[in-house]
Amino acid sequence: MNIVVIGSQGTLGRELVRSWNDPRVEERIAANLAATPIDEPDSMIPLNIPDFDVCSRMNAIETVCDFHPDVIVNASGVNLIDWLESRPNTARTLHEHGPSNLREAARRCGALLVQYSCGEVFYRSRLEQGAADERERASTPEEARSRVQAFDDEAALDLPVSPDAPGFDETTVPNPASVYAKTKLESERVASEAPESLVLRFSSLFGEATEYSSVNLVESLLKAFRRTNRVSAISDRMIEPLWTVDVLCATKTLIRRKARGLYHLTGASRGTPEEIARFLLDKTGLRGRTVAGITTKEYGVTAPHSAFTVLSSNRYDELDGLYRVPDWRTAIVDFFDWRQRNVNF
Ligand SMILES: NC(=O)c1ccc[n+]([C@@H]2O[C@H](COP(=O)([O-])OP(=O)(O)OC[C@H]3O[C@@H](n4cnc5c(N)ncnc54)[C@H](OP(=O)(O)O)[C@@H]3O)[C@@H](O)[C@H]2O)c1
Repeated sequence: MNIVVIGSQGTLGRELVRSWNDPRVEERIAANLAATPIDEPDSMIPLNIPDFDVCSRMNAIETVCDFHPDVIVNASGVNLIDWLESRPNTARTLHEHGPSNLREAARRCGALLVQYSCGEVFYRSRLEQGAADERERASTPEEARSRVQAFDDEAALDLPVSPDAPGFDETTVPNPASVYAKTKLESERVASEAPESLVLRFSSLFGEATEYSSVNLVESLLKAFRRTNRVSAISDRMIEPLWTVDVLCATKTLIRRKARGLYHLTGASRGTPEEIARFLLDKTGLRGRTVAGITTKEYGVTAPHSAFTVLSSNRYDELDGLYRVPDWRTAIVDFFDWRQRNVNF
């Protein structure tokens, strides 16, 4: 297959291009599915700004179609939620016009369009999520009511964040709040109008940062541990970080399985950035470092960030032959191991 990857220098796009045909990916999928590795390399075509601008309509459509793609993977975009909040036109151009050009390219060359999106399309403030957590903890409707009333007390903000609340599944109606999330939701709608499309949502991403890609949570924490002894991490948001290689494996099996439509990718795990930081510190074995939890407010965000972007994947789970994404702790350990072997290689 010819696979065009847009945003090929980003965190995910770069991984897709460099690891798609890596035998370790097939081994990982085969081990996960208890199957035999498949040895059928695909032709990967990387496209990224400034040589290729997905927003420049005629140029984008013609360039993509010149490669006769079977699959167009859109990993381009900007994830800087606060930065985009005051730049709605930029966000619309990137997240709506870009996918619209790729939808047209997919239509003209009969390709499958793969679009990535995020858990931010489900917005919950910390107070709303806290009330939802309280309802989850209660065993009767009366207890739920009194727990939610008690939650109005600011002190309740110190309660553990959503250890058990169910994640949003593929049928949950989105309610984006930030410019980023609204335009990402629009990118899903636009992409899903291609004759054949796959829209894949996940909560958060980590992988090897490059000089080009935006820095992700795990890489920023690792950098911070090298730079300073006391690292602050947010304690009142619940997320699920997915490793780029796992997103790749899931994408590959969805394409093979000829799945179409919207899917959530998740390893059925969750954690606050603070918990993730503590886990990382433990795994790196660095001494003399501490992690301090801070609230999103103390961190100082300007756009609305959802306090809970944990997904569940009922639709994905119903299909067999799909790669089962591991929980984030396993994924981080595998990431360290993989990176180590890259260095040795
Ligand atoms: N990162 C997360 O935690 C997260 C969470 C959920 C979903 N997602 C989704 O996953 C996808 C990949 O995210 P990521 O973290 O890999 O993003 P990323 O690291 O920011 O990479 C995006 C790439 O797109 C490129 N790009 C930007 N504008 C472009 C244009 N006009 N034409 C062509 N390429 C352009 C960027 O190039 P420059 O760097 O040169 O601008 C960059 O290489 C996105 O759809 C994102 O919304 C990410």
